[in-house]
Amino acid sequence: SPAMLMSDRMLLKVIVLGDSGVGKTSLMNRYVYNRFNKQYKSTIGADFVTKELHIDEKLVTLQIWDTAGQERFHSLGVAFYRGADCCVLVYDVNIQKTFETLQTWHEEFLKQADPTNPERFPFVLLGNKVDTDGGSSRAVSEKTAREWCAMNGNIPYFETSAKENYNVDDAFLCVAKTAL
Ligand code: GTP
Repeated sequence: SPAMLMSDRMLLKVIVLGDSGVGKTSLMNRYVYNRFNKQYKSTIGADFVTKELHIDEKLVTLQIWDTAGQERFHSLGVAFYRGADCCVLVYDVNIQKTFETLQTWHEEFLKQADPTNPERFPFVLLGNKVDTDGGSSRAVSEKTAREWCAMNGNIPYFETSAKENYNVDDAFLCVAKTAL
C-alpha cells in the first residue's frame, strides 16, 4: 500500500562540519559522485547532495549538507541545524589544529541544533587524508582520536582518504545507520 511505501522511505539530514581544508567537500564528492579534485575551492555558505541507499529493506535518502569551514556557524543560522539526524565531524590527521577544534565544532553543533537528547545525538568522526601519512607527517594518532571519541559519548571513528577512496563508503554507511 502507499502508506507502507511511505513508511519504508526515509530522509536523513546529515551535517558535515570541520575546519577549512580538511576535505569535507572532497569526501562528499567521493561518496556521491566517485570523483576527486586536487584543486581546492573553498565552500561558500552551505550546499547539499543526496545519495540513496538500501538499509534493511528501507530506502534511505541521505541529504548531506556541506558547510564552509571558514564561515563557522553564525552565517548559516540556527534553522539550518535544526532537524539534523546526524553530524559528521571531519579533521585532517596531518594537522593537529584541525583535531583540537573538534571540541568546538561538537559543542557548537549541539548548541545550535539543540537536539532533545544531546547525550544521545549521533555524531561520526572522520580522520581524513590518511594517504599522506608517511609516518612522520601524521600529527594525530588513531589512539588519540579514539580516546576523544570515547570521551564524547562513544562516537564511531573512521580513518578515510577522499583521494584514494579509502573507507569512505563504510563511513557514510555508518552515518546512515547511526542516524536511522
Ligand atoms: P572548506 O570548503 O574550506 O571548508 O574546505 P573542505 O573541508 O571542504 O576541504 P576540500 O574538500 O575543499 O579539500 C581541501 C583540499 O584538500 C583540496 O585540495 C583537496 O583536494 C584536498 N583533499 C581532500 N581530501 C583529501 C584526501 O583524502 N587526501 C589528500 N591527499 N588530499 C585531500
